[in-house]
Amino acid sequence: MSLFDKFGTLAADRTALLSTGMDPFGAPLEEVYSATEAKIGGRRVILAGTNNYLGLTRAPECLKAAHDAIDREGTGTTGSRMANGSFAGHRALEREIAAFYECRSAIVFTTGYQANLGMISGLARQGDVLMIDGDSHASIYDGCKLSGADVIRFRHNDAEDLDRRLQRLGDKAPSALVIVEGIYSMLGDRAPLREIVEVKRKHGCMLLVDEAHSMGVLGAKGRGLVEEAGVMGQVDFLVGTFSKSLGSVGGYCASNHPELEFIRYTSRPYVFTASPSPSVIASTRAALALLRDGTELRTRLWERAGELHRGLLDLGYQLGAGISPVVAALVDTREQAIGLWRGLFEHGVYVNLILPPAAPGGKSLVRCSVSAAHTREQIQKILAAFADLREIAAAPALKSHG
Ligand SMILES: Cc1ncc(COP(=O)(O)O)c(C=O)c1O
Repeated sequence: MSLFDKFGTLAADRTALLSTGMDPFGAPLEEVYSATEAKIGGRRVILAGTNNYLGLTRAPECLKAAHDAIDREGTGTTGSRMANGSFAGHRALEREIAAFYECRSAIVFTTGYQANLGMISGLARQGDVLMIDGDSHASIYDGCKLSGADVIRFRHNDAEDLDRRLQRLGDKAPSALVIVEGIYSMLGDRAPLREIVEVKRKHGCMLLVDEAHSMGVLGAKGRGLVEEAGVMGQVDFLVGTFSKSLGSVGGYCASNHPELEFIRYTSRPYVFTASPSPSVIASTRAALALLRDGTELRTRLWERAGELHRGLLDLGYQLGAGISPVVAALVDTREQAIGLWRGLFEHGVYVNLILPPAAPGGKSLVRCSVSAAHTREQIQKILAAFADLREIAAAPALKSHG
């Protein structure tokens, strides 16, 4: 028996994947030309599998802010927020996020992953109850594990199932924390947030919403599903990431509860890791200002998302959800998904390959994400590639929906 024995199946799967000539899960971007184009495997490709929803990774304002911060404050903080890693910029960003959500305060974490880990494990401990959507992101599951609390999963996007399960908790229901996401990252669908807020109100428990994929994307001011659903003041904890719409890296939680401050002391993922570097904080602040002050990018994002969505439906592809910047093309088998991914790559289109068990229900799919930086021509090229590859994905998922 060796520690490595457990890698047997993984090694076989990996060898099969690599035999296609590319590693879909590790191919580096050799050169990055723009928010939507790069060189991968020696080929110039359209990037249709990033989370760069607003295309802000190349915004001049963000680049300049990052450059200035490096010149002013250096390359890194070399410490945790608790020790030497809280700079004026971290605090300023926290104030700006709080103001953006019209909340009392906010906390910045080093990644979005750590924001979930840090909030969930900072709030709950052994004996507490966490009620999570069954299709939650790994960071939510890992936060639950780290907390040591009891974890109850309710059926994906099913407020009635949540209600039933809270009912069964009896006296304990008011102390439960319910956790959902704004837009789910695998299929691009949204939580039924109004109904979930109703259930939360009925049972008097707390609600955390992870807006990782919906911040900057949904709502009149880009504040996510909470804004779109009109429930901004009714959610206890708003979690999100800087690594998608804001084009950098880091995470946050905004809340009206004064107790949020205690998370700075109880949360190991906040206390025991280095804080985001000054350039990251500076570009994030610049991106947040762009997001706050304009709607043009969001309008363009939704136009492009609609074009891709309608185009794929016309081609007969089965999609994971209604129009969304996350566009999942579902197929029946992992071989079809690998073939589609590989074919798209050969057509100069880079997307994400999702194989079981990563997607809900053991589905295989390729996931595109749309960016405001995509041109109409790029969306047409992506669609032309999907059109050429219809046959690969054609049986039987496409046939039944084509
Ligand atoms: C729903 C959700 N939450 C949290 C995260 C983690 O964010 P980050 O990659 O910025 O650490 C992700 C990342 O994809 C996500 O999809």
